[in-house]
Amino acid sequence: MREYYSTQLALVVGLLILVVSAFFAFRQSPELLEHRESAAVKAAVALPHPVAGMEQCHDCHGLKSDLPYPVKHTGWSDQSCTRCHQAPD
Ligand code: HEC
Ligand code: HEC
Repeated sequence: MREYYSTQLALVVGLLILVVSAFFAFRQSPELLEHRESAAVKAAVALPHPVAGMEQCHDCHGLKSDLPYPVKHTGWSDQSCTRCHQAPD
């Protein structure tokens, strides 16, 4: 019985330590969470054309269009494109 509780206690304390250290790690370096996206954002080419009037990206860049986007873009919404592909001003 006693042994059972000490195992539980060890688990709870271990979890607490994990949560607390994760909290402080992200507080100290919030960029830890953004890492994946910023790498993709950096790798994305800037738009060679304006967005205005061309919001329907899929019309021209869908997989079956003349200028298809990479296959891994499949299923991404038109609204998402400019999160990575910077529009010219
Ligand atoms: C009317 C058709 C059309 C629409 C709509 C359109 N584009 Fe384009 N896009 C083009 C053409 C044509 C080119 C290549 C010619 C150029 O340099 O302007 C191009 C080039 C690109 C490129 C660079 C490709 C490369 O190989 O360098 C990206 C990225 C891109 N478009 C993203 C988008 C995004 C994001 C949207 C939606 C906001 C969009 N396009 C909407 C026609 C379109
Ligand atoms: C998560 C970031 C991200 C988003 C969102 C995104 N792209 Fe891309 N895109 C990239 C990266 C990175 C590349 C570089 C080439 C690759 O991955 O093969 C790329 C490549 C492209 C290319 C080919 C450019 C070339 O030079 O060959 C086109 C066209 C394109 N994207 C259009 C779009 C469209 C349209 C959308 C919205 C449906 C979109 N992208 C959303 C990151 C993104």
